[in-house]
Amino acid sequence: MCGIVGYIGDKQAAPFLLDGMSKLEYRGYDSAGIAVFEKGRIRVEKCVGRLEALRQKLSGNMPAGTMGIGHTRWATHGRPSDRNAHPHADSSGEFVVVHNGIIENYMSLKEELLAKNHVFLSETDSEVVAHLMAVNYNGDFEETVKKVLGMIEGSYSLVFLCAKEPDKLICTKKDNPLVIGLGTGENFIASDIPAIIAKTRRTFIMNDGEIATVTKDAVWVQDIKGTPISKKVFEVNWNAEAAEKGGFEHFMLKEIYEQPKAMRDTMTGRVAHDGSRIDFEELNWTKEDFADISKIFIIGCGTAYHAGMVGKYYLEQLARVPVEVDIASEFRYRNPIIDSSCLTIIISQSGETSDTLAALKEARRLGSRTLAITNVVGSSVAREADQVAYTHAGPEIAVASTKAYTTQLLLMLMLAVYVGQIKGNLNDDRTRELVTAIKQVPEQIHQLLENVEQLKVFATQYGNSEDVFYLGRSLDYAVALEGALKMKEISYIHAEAYAAGELKHGTLALIVEGVPVIVLATQNDVYDKTISNLQEVKARDAVVIAIAQEGDSNIAKYADHVIFIPRAEKYLTPLLSVLPLQLLAYYAALTRGCDVDKPRNLAKSVTVE
Ligand code: F6R
Repeated sequence: MCGIVGYIGDKQAAPFLLDGMSKLEYRGYDSAGIAVFEKGRIRVEKCVGRLEALRQKLSGNMPAGTMGIGHTRWATHGRPSDRNAHPHADSSGEFVVVHNGIIENYMSLKEELLAKNHVFLSETDSEVVAHLMAVNYNGDFEETVKKVLGMIEGSYSLVFLCAKEPDKLICTKKDNPLVIGLGTGENFIASDIPAIIAKTRRTFIMNDGEIATVTKDAVWVQDIKGTPISKKVFEVNWNAEAAEKGGFEHFMLKEIYEQPKAMRDTMTGRVAHDGSRIDFEELNWTKEDFADISKIFIIGCGTAYHAGMVGKYYLEQLARVPVEVDIASEFRYRNPIIDSSCLTIIISQSGETSDTLAALKEARRLGSRTLAITNVVGSSVAREADQVAYTHAGPEIAVASTKAYTTQLLLMLMLAVYVGQIKGNLNDDRTRELVTAIKQVPEQIHQLLENVEQLKVFATQYGNSEDVFYLGRSLDYAVALEGALKMKEISYIHAEAYAAGELKHGTLALIVEGVPVIVLATQNDVYDKTISNLQEVKARDAVVIAIAQEGDSNIAKYADHVIFIPRAEKYLTPLLSVLPLQLLAYYAALTRGCDVDKPRNLAKSVTVE
């Protein structure tokens, strides 16, 4: 995720900006830049790569000035490059902006500006904001910001510099974090507290729609109508490490809690405002594109492979195309029957997994069309595939994947609806129903995350078990696989997932008194069958923890414990039922004293075979 810093005061801005940006490095970034008001103009310096590259570029020639902004970029629109790095300026260089988030309607705004002969230097959505500021400036910086905010759609935190009004910074936000730090004779802006706590602990958090004018001696906050807003200042008492994790004990927990926002970012620009359809502008598929597709392959490793298993259900049910799911390391060596009538979807959070990349190359060699679903803009799979759809989950730092998985599921569900629409498999009413359900998910996840006490208790009760089994049918089976992987990798408990109907073909022999069995029972069409399987393990005195939909008054008769998820449309249940499984694994790992963010023997990105 991108990082923002801003400074205005009596001291030199550049050293603070670079230092503040280094405190945001843990969030991941691909390029960095600063803009400082120097001798009557704004000097912008930026480059692709690590902060060290920017430091070297500036060595001996540091911008001199007491007001500036800085940015570490995690690419969303346009690959990592010097030009795409922030800050961005309009053509005159008088308005400079840093932006986190996504400007959804940037294409149409850019086209209007291009028609007026504006020249763009980057491929980013953010650059349009600087141009809009220049076009709309009427001698009043604040009023111009408000006017531009009325034109842009999407999510953002933004900080503006204006060469004509060099005594202030203006910042605002929607669906992206922004904090103000208060000093004496100096004030600070940042996307995240770690960037400023070395300078001040007196801060306040900006809320959506608020606009702050920050001078060296004062901060004035108003809404878009000009109504003043008084902010409650608080003292941050986190240490630097806790601040990086946003106050959470581990990155994994932070990322679990980031899922509602990650979901919203995945949806951004893809869900029609009136809720009538899904569109993938970056794919721009037509009915003809699908006329000759006879089969889809979905390929990934680990969690991404599990996401692919859910994706198979989505694409087969909603788009009515046969789907085969493969583990990348198997696919690449199995001489698959694949040709130009196939579409191969490659899933990879990092976009750098060696087996996944090799499988993608193999699919291309055999003539298949290819689509990459990845979280990292400009990553190897993004570059190698014919087309790419980004999950926009933001950087995932914990080794155990959480928000990458749920955003992969969401993206595939939206893709399946998109193809279903294009092929005419989904009528308008059904599409609207699905889109409505999709839009509710972030809030439903939020609800789930509000209520985790029961999971902590189970994790303490069963965290010292040797084995744990996960059972489910249909979509529940795919989620069970992911739940078991989470448990294995961070708590080191032996965890296995089975299609519930497979149990009696061997695994039932392992079910003995006291073994915890997690039974997912969220799928109505196979509910009774799942309950029969639940009874099979109960009859062997296993301890059953069931995951069921709210309103299921039947399940408590059979299970020892029940965890309820919000009631949802069938296809959305995996996005909800995986949450308690992620949290159970997390709290079990804590119970066992494991290093949650860095489990033994594992790396975040597996770039070797
Ligand atoms: C598990 C996990 C791994 C990755 C796998 C693929 O929590 O994170 O199983 O899913 O190594 O990584 P990507 O998605 O980066 O290709």
